[in-house]
Amino acid sequence: CRTRHYTFNIKNHTITRLCHTKSIVSVNGKFPGPPLVAREGDRVIIKVVNHVSSNVTIHWHGVRQLRSGWADGPAYVTQCPIQTGQTYAYNFTITGQRGTLLWHAHISWLRSTLHGPIIILPRRNESYPFDKPYKEIPIILGEWFNVDPEDVINQALQLGNGPNVSDAFTINGFPGPLYNSCSSSNDTFKLKVIPGKTYLLRIINAALNDELFFSIANHTLTVVEADAAYVKPFQTNILLIAPGQTTNVLLQTKPIPPNATFLIAASSYFTGQGTVDNTTTSAILQYHKPLTHSNVSPHNLTLSRPSLPPVNATKFVNVTQFVANFTAKFRSLANSKFPANFPKTVDRKFFFTVGLGTNPCPKNTTCQGPNGQKFSASVNNISFVLPSTAILQAYYFGQPKGVYTTDFPANPHPSFNYTGTPPNNTMVSNGTRAVVLAFNTSVEVVLQDTSILGAESHPLHLHGFNFFVVGQGFGNFDPNKDPAKFNLVDPVERNTAAVPSGGWIAFRFFADNPGVWFMHCHLDIHTSWGLRMAWIVLDGPQPNQKLPPPPSDLPKC
Ligand code: C2O
Repeated sequence: CRTRHYTFNIKNHTITRLCHTKSIVSVNGKFPGPPLVAREGDRVIIKVVNHVSSNVTIHWHGVRQLRSGWADGPAYVTQCPIQTGQTYAYNFTITGQRGTLLWHAHISWLRSTLHGPIIILPRRNESYPFDKPYKEIPIILGEWFNVDPEDVINQALQLGNGPNVSDAFTINGFPGPLYNSCSSSNDTFKLKVIPGKTYLLRIINAALNDELFFSIANHTLTVVEADAAYVKPFQTNILLIAPGQTTNVLLQTKPIPPNATFLIAASSYFTGQGTVDNTTTSAILQYHKPLTHSNVSPHNLTLSRPSLPPVNATKFVNVTQFVANFTAKFRSLANSKFPANFPKTVDRKFFFTVGLGTNPCPKNTTCQGPNGQKFSASVNNISFVLPSTAILQAYYFGQPKGVYTTDFPANPHPSFNYTGTPPNNTMVSNGTRAVVLAFNTSVEVVLQDTSILGAESHPLHLHGFNFFVVGQGFGNFDPNKDPAKFNLVDPVERNTAAVPSGGWIAFRFFADNPGVWFMHCHLDIHTSWGLRMAWIVLDGPQPNQKLPPPPSDLPKC
């Protein structure tokens, strides 16, 4: 094991996409940002230097941060932001993980341009549980706004309206040659391959607000890993990846003559009404030898256009069924080398409703939510408010007063039929409330989508842990019947899992990581509206079960 040093200079960078030139906030002038590469067991130190006018923090999404919560990154949860001119060194060790994750800004909507891959290779003497690929290639799915995304979110928060949708999705930073009137072959990512080889694609969804389908025309993909945990391999033509999720797939290239090209495409999955980003992004799978620029036109690519699932409201049921089947295919490897370490019995059970609600409209404004109110989002009817100082500091120094309370309810209030007639009163209350867990508690959480306003899946992300998804279903979770059907053999291990629209998921984890851990919807608009909460895990009795003191350069609020 070794220590790897990185410097992330946060600086402005001028970039042109869709014929719009603008300045974006970047790491080292790159979009998407640079990859962080390490081996399992390595220590990583990333010096983040803020040269821009906005505050910044970086989150290492999916990294367990075992006893290194000070390096986790969510603003006002584990740290105060890094202010203009300041530096903070994130310092952590990668423990018990190998695969693909992502890093991204964790403040406001800066992650729209501040994100990049985390590539965790197996330890030096260890191999993959599948044939060694010829090459490994990160594929980052993102979202492009012609305007400043900070303006989009500020407007959405002030008025409580749905935000403007983005102008395009991107593959490795480019919108691609099709579907977008203003894009050239320079605006296209080309995946260059040679025939008859196996490639490992490390696919990351870094989009702000959309789950994305992904497909490569005429090619089958073999899924081997999700969220930096190996899965039982399975084949598929279409992937679905939620924001925050990562999927490693093997791509077997065909023994075909050179110069063939196939389209790679990604498009949005929205299970219902509401704002629909209907842009599709594309890239090109290009067999050796390269095409000339003039050959890369929509015209000679139409033959190899991949079939993505229909994503309009009329085909709603088919897509929902496809998604449920696809999700159920994910199983952890659960063998002797990579056991699935999840609680077989449970100490504490939680039932959380997740969904949209409303808050009163501020005076002298017009809000577009139901009954002229502001849209809001909540867990157990509580819309989480970020404090003005970091919860982890307040907790560590024993000064919770005015920062947070520890009365987050284990069940929703009021209880109702989540898929029946919506109640008249959709109001949620505001609060900064956490659940406190004793060290090593075995936890089960059922997340029930309310679908009161808007039918969308909620990709829930838990910081500081991987959890095991033991069950999922549609309609109301039934505590008497559904647990009997739980998968307690090879549940998939993830850090982000989508709660299906009008349905539920159940997951388990051991609370073996002391600190304050955020849990939230990874659709940024829902997080911003309050679909978030915090867990506090207390220290254990042993020295190696305690959270160490904060590093001396931890930013102050
Ligand atoms: Cu990837 Cu709290 O986020």
